[in-house]
Amino acid sequence: MSEPMIVSHPLLQHKISLLRDKSTGTKEFRDLVGEIATLLCYEATRDLPTEEVEIETPIAVAKTKVLAGRKLALVPILRAGLGMVDGMLSLIPAAKVGHIGLYRDETTLEPVEYYCKLPSDIAEREVIVLDPMLATGGSASDAVAQIKKHGAKHIKFIGLIAAPEGLKALHEAHPDVDIYVAQLDDKLNENGYIVPGLGDAGDRIFGTK
Ligand code: PRP
Ligand code: URA
Repeated sequence: MSEPMIVSHPLLQHKISLLRDKSTGTKEFRDLVGEIATLLCYEATRDLPTEEVEIETPIAVAKTKVLAGRKLALVPILRAGLGMVDGMLSLIPAAKVGHIGLYRDETTLEPVEYYCKLPSDIAEREVIVLDPMLATGGSASDAVAQIKKHGAKHIKFIGLIAAPEGLKALHEAHPDVDIYVAQLDDKLNENGYIVPGLGDAGDRIFGTK
């Protein structure tokens, strides 16, 4: 079990600040979510195994490293997780992409499942679940449970902003899942929104409000 990682980097902090600003428009917001996902992908893939190969450069033979081991799968939680996919694929273009559809019931804040389509070989893959917001942690915990039911054993979660409640809930429900987020915020408000947060991530990515 490893402790959740708050990835603290000046570029991430700067971009998260722009994301929080209520005057940031849809296009800029979407671009920032993608860029932050790329930066978090860099950190979350730091432990991928490599193997040595020999490559002929124009000058000589080089003993050098390439990725080895399990292939990758990304699983964005719909809708807002979709905003992170392209930024992740820019670094790991060969990853397969599954989708899990969940929304939070407005009164109970419990996740409601409405879609699940995962790569057929997900059990053999290293899986990275994507969702910008870890609020109560209900959606992320439910998504990880669904993925485990399909046989996957190596799962990570990448988010942009977490509330302490969500981080704790996901970590306790799935202690085997490595969690990476760019920022840990103060708390949840009475409506289950992260404070200070950035508002509704899905609405801000897709311009639906
Ligand atoms: C948001 C967000 C997460 C979830 C987090 O989705 O993208 O999936 O809430 O909250 P939780 O940690 O309390 O479960 P939402 O339910 O608003 O759906 P949407 O992405 O379709 O707008
Ligand atoms: N979902 C969001 O999009 N934002 C929050 O602050 C909490 C849940």
